[in-house]
Amino acid sequence: MSDVAQSPAKSEGSATAAAADQKIQPIIRVVDVHKSFGDHEVLRGMNLDVAKGSILVILGGSGMGKSVLMKHMIGLLQPDSGQIIVDGEDISRMGAAALKRVRSKFGMVFQSGALFDSMSNWDNVAFPLREHRKKLKGTALDERVRELFKIFSLDPDQLGPRFPSEISGGQRKRVALARAVALEPQIVLYDEPTTGLDPITTDQVDEMILDAKRHLGVTSIVISHDIASAFKIADHIIFVYEGEIVAEGLKAEMLSSQHAFVREFFATWSHKNL
Ligand SMILES: Nc1ncnc2c1ncn2[C@@H]1O[C@H](COP(=O)(O)OP(=O)(O)OP(=O)(O)O)[C@@H](O)[C@H]1O
Ligand SMILES: [Mg+2]
Repeated sequence: MSDVAQSPAKSEGSATAAAADQKIQPIIRVVDVHKSFGDHEVLRGMNLDVAKGSILVILGGSGMGKSVLMKHMIGLLQPDSGQIIVDGEDISRMGAAALKRVRSKFGMVFQSGALFDSMSNWDNVAFPLREHRKKLKGTALDERVRELFKIFSLDPDQLGPRFPSEISGGQRKRVALARAVALEPQIVLYDEPTTGLDPITTDQVDEMILDAKRHLGVTSIVISHDIASAFKIADHIIFVYEGEIVAEGLKAEMLSSQHAFVREFFATWSHKNL
């Protein structure tokens, strides 16, 4: 793909073509989604296909609609018009019970971390397993929780008994990541998974996202401000500006975009890294 999508209609076409090329059905389709809060139109006709088993990275400036878009994908927000199709089902007008079933396909790491403050870190990670894997008990449950702590370089004995308020921001983020992947979901949504993490841990999170794709076929959608990490992990990148996709593709498409904001976004990075 050498051209840069400048309109939602075109972005849908090229993403669909990319999915068809790989003969992989889209696991998530966002079809002409509009969303306003009051008179502020945050999503302005968003179109997007996410190929099953791929890693989509969403880039863009602050307040442009990235988190709002992601919340639509998991049914936490409903569009004013348009559709969100997950695994062939339109979730945009779905009832609570059906939505709960669809949501069980997802793991999500919220931008805020969103841990349960009244539970220990250990219980936060164990929570989804206790809720959804009732047969996993005793030592087997403990072992799985320990394993999840270790995947994210957290010491289960030291940090497990403490509460989220008693650990650092980066550690909290990693506990949230561990909780999000505890049930080995087929789709994981990450809202800024590496913001506030040191470079080594950032690299570990990138590797984990890549491993989940390679070994388990997991689809990941990642909102990031880390350009190097985006280029490293993405199968497809979209750049969101004022509720529209103004550039999409990979590194070449991002760096050659003629859109003024996209150029500005990458300018500083390019100077340092090219
Ligand atoms: N529940 C809400 N009610 C009203 N306005 C909202 C709500 N959620 C988001 N917004 C507004 O929608 C716009 C887009 O927000 P969003 O959280 O998607 O930004 P973002 O691209 O994720 O930015 P950041 O990089 O800072 O996280 C912002 O102007 C925000 O204030
Ligand atoms: Mg956000």
